[in-house]
Amino acid sequence: MSRVVKLAVIPGDGIGPEVIAEAEKVLDAAVSGSDVRFESTRFSLGAGRFLETGETLTDADLEAIRSHDAILLGAVGGVPGDPRLKDANIERGLLLKLRFELDHYVNLRPSKLYPGVPGPLAAPGDIDFVVVREGTEGPYVGNGGSIRTGTPHEVANETSVNTAFGVERVVRYAFDLAERRSKKLTLVHKTNVLVHAGGIWKRLVDEVAREHPDVAVDYVHVDAATIYLVTNPDRFDVIVTDNLFGDILTDLAGAVTGGIGLAASGNINPDGAFPSMFEPVHGSAPDIAGQQKADPTAAILSVALLLDHLGLHDESRRVTTAVEDDIASRGSAPRSTAEVGDAIAARLSA
Ligand code: NAI
Ligand code: MG
Repeated sequence: MSRVVKLAVIPGDGIGPEVIAEAEKVLDAAVSGSDVRFESTRFSLGAGRFLETGETLTDADLEAIRSHDAILLGAVGGVPGDPRLKDANIERGLLLKLRFELDHYVNLRPSKLYPGVPGPLAAPGDIDFVVVREGTEGPYVGNGGSIRTGTPHEVANETSVNTAFGVERVVRYAFDLAERRSKKLTLVHKTNVLVHAGGIWKRLVDEVAREHPDVAVDYVHVDAATIYLVTNPDRFDVIVTDNLFGDILTDLAGAVTGGIGLAASGNINPDGAFPSMFEPVHGSAPDIAGQQKADPTAAILSVALLLDHLGLHDESRRVTTAVEDDIASRGSAPRSTAEVGDAIAARLSA
């Protein structure tokens, strides 16, 4: 029986469309000859759309996206500081809105140092871990405000929201993932100072841990975690953490594993009530846009996460292997965005 997957594609701005073209090429190659077919709908969203229409994400956009099985996103955003985009609110009004509205409570970011990739660490060891970042709570919910703004008496608050429901569900996801990997889970927080938010995280991790006696559980303060990510990143396998700490740690994780051109991510609604969204971690890179200089590998690895999420595990593994083989054989001669995509797609068709 053939399976049709309805895919919402948001190429976005800058290098977004360039890397998405390669990601789709690889996606097609990965399922060609199988009974799975991707039916894509393109959505024009981002800075370009805002400049044309003044809209960021309308209710109609959201409704239309909601009816898909999954979302593939390139990158959105214009040149930082462009005054015409002052009111566009791309980060909160588009990316965060999608994550909150589609209940993407798991932000999944694998970090692996692939053989052949030059990383910045002198002794990187065997880096292969996944950060499970909470995606719908923490200090990012917009629970704040300011009064007497701009005066010497200004008061500004941004309160972190942590619910038992929200923490428990992401912790459970992380433990399930640890069971499927090397059965090691690290909670990262700042329980010594953020005693209330830290307390609920620590308690729920301890509680769920009792159901997973075979998973080794460890706790590291976030500041210490930044040290270990540099001095011995191989101590980590699954890291579970809140929205803010996860945002920061995953940028560091991307840096120690060879950079932004390789980092993929999934914004996942594990319940399947809403489509999950897969995207490279990088932005729209206006500095190199339109020049075929962008590395599409992060977008292609996002396709591997997408396939895995859809239960297409073999196809996902094949994409990852094709990327690994391509990385291992990379020479010093620069290749265009399309050349990298073609090479990876060719390995899948071979
Ligand atoms: P950026 O990630 O776009 O670029 C940072 C640096 O990395 C630049 O020098 C760029 O050329 C380079 N780079 C990024 N992706 C690359 C790739 N695939 N291959 C080779 N080099 C790559 O971050 P930046 O400059 O802070 O932001 C640019 C725009 O992107 C802003 O409007 C920002 O808001 C937006 N942005 C969007 C994100 C998203 O759509 N999820 C995430 C981060 C930023
Ligand atoms: Mg970030």
